Amino acid sequence: MDKRVEKILLNTEEIQEGIKKAGQWVDDHYKDKDLILIGLLKGCLPFFGQLISNITIDCLIDFMSVSSWRGSTEAQTLPLITQGISENIMNKHVLLVDEIIDSALTLKYVKEYLQEKYKPLSVEIITLLDKPEGRKVDLQPIYRCFEIENKFVVGYGCDYQGKLRNLPYVGVFKQDKK
Ligand code: IMP
Ligand code: MG
Repeated sequence: MDKRVEKILLNTEEIQEGIKKAGQWVDDHYKDKDLILIGLLKGCLPFFGQLISNITIDCLIDFMSVSSWRGSTEAQTLPLITQGISENIMNKHVLLVDEIIDSALTLKYVKEYLQEKYKPLSVEIITLLDKPEGRKVDLQPIYRCFEIENKFVVGYGCDYQGKLRNLPYVGVFKQDKK
């Protein structure tokens, strides 16, 4: 275990099992629908990759880069879209893919931005992790693999100052050590 991790919340096997179920859920829910998965870089990456390999229905994929300027462990300002989508989503059902939903400020902003700008058929959210206690706005993902306690976590896409996204598990970050 990395020395910056206090305890492991979810191990690799549990995460993979959770993502497999998520893929099956997407298959059922979006069967016969024009689906596009939009991943929010960079955190979505490990979840996104595994999720799409567990989806069997036809779908498009795209990415956006959204920065919430989370210098340390608290988001500081309004999110900023630094890279937009490249696909046409007008007549499609959009599923936003992110590694974690906490305050929901970022995803609310992105959801409203896509709805207003492109008027897709629907915009929903799927996340690997959900910290419901951290909510500042009322927005729920249509599917989340795991609900976790309100602690700052790292691994499986979740970072501390850009690092630790590559850990193959989700763990609580040790706040006192770098
Ligand atoms: P929000 O608070 O729901 O807007 O979350 C915005 C972003 O903050 C997420 O996509 C993550 O990139 C980051 N974030 C939120 N909670 C954590 C955490 O516990 N560890 C690492 N990043 C987090
Ligand atoms: Mg993120």
